[in-house]
Amino acid sequence: MDLSETVQNRSNSPHRSVLLNEVIEYLSIKDGGRYLDCTFGAGGYTRAILSKGDCYVTAIDQDPTVIKFANDLSSDYGDRFNFIQTNFSEVASRLQGKNFDGVVLDLGISSMQVDQAARGFSFMQNGPLDMRMSVTGMSAAEFLETASEQEIADIIYKYGEEVQSRAIAKNIVYYRQTDRIDTTLKLAEIVRQSKHYRSEKIDPATKTFQAIRIYINDELGALERFLANAEGLLVPGGRIIVVSFHSLEDSIVKNFFKESSVKKIAKSKYSKEINNFPEGKWLQIITKKPLVPSRAEVQDNPRSRSAKLRVAEKIRGNHVT
Ligand SMILES: C[S@@+](CC[C@H](N)C(=O)[O-])C[C@H]1O[C@@H](n2cnc3c(N)ncnc32)[C@H](O)[C@@H]1O
Repeated sequence: MDLSETVQNRSNSPHRSVLLNEVIEYLSIKDGGRYLDCTFGAGGYTRAILSKGDCYVTAIDQDPTVIKFANDLSSDYGDRFNFIQTNFSEVASRLQGKNFDGVVLDLGISSMQVDQAARGFSFMQNGPLDMRMSVTGMSAAEFLETASEQEIADIIYKYGEEVQSRAIAKNIVYYRQTDRIDTTLKLAEIVRQSKHYRSEKIDPATKTFQAIRIYINDELGALERFLANAEGLLVPGGRIIVVSFHSLEDSIVKNFFKESSVKKIAKSKYSKEINNFPEGKWLQIITKKPLVPSRAEVQDNPRSRSAKLRVAEKIRGNHVT
């Protein structure tokens, strides 16, 4: 059964879940199982998990505006579902002692966030230059008001891989001497005018918006902190599934899986339970190469086009101390 149809239609979701069937397949949902959805969004993954078996889901999102979707799930599934509004980098301390049969992260922003001009993520529509998923902390406008030219250039280069970052930062600092850069369209226009050449097919503002968004939400730092504490969140044999949308995220996941994994689990006539593994090696990689959306999915949902899915499983053995 194609779950995406069921989920999107049933919940009339404003966000189309990416790689949903693949996520559900790799989670291998079982009755009585406990699952952790670290990026709840409109609840597409959570709803699909709950509909697959008589299981339990704890869902996390830092965005307070998703609570209405969480309330819908609560009324449909009662105590099989609970929601915590927090950053997933905090989840290990918030859920101390709890562990799960599967943990899933679907990184980045949701369609609700990007499509609402008032959230300030989009260079296509005018809105306040905000970009805060949690609606707290420093906004993008405040960052551009206070940061030095060098800092702005470095961030646009590092998180946007934008080679014209210096010219853009220079113009931002020039512009802010006379006017606040407090709307999305003001920033988009400054970026478009700063770029000397435009070889890309994408809007010239794409990379700068991505960079500032990643910085404002500390997206890569949150992912690293989450992964560093993920071992305690999984039962032996539990799976971690990450869907990422750009190479900076994907390489963090790829490298973490590689560094934390054993290449070969010794084949013995005994079960895996008796194997011992060195400290820090607690994973077995399930997807040697990342899975990507089918051509049909990309056609149906172009926002899925850069998605990559990686899966690893917590080893069932004991650590050598
Ligand atoms: C791509 S959407 C998830 C969509 C969801 N899988 C669905 O099917 O509806 C990503 C969500 O993760 C949330 N998010 C991103 N980074 C987060 C973090 N560090 N902590 C908690 N939530 C985060 C965003 O607020 C957003 O709602």
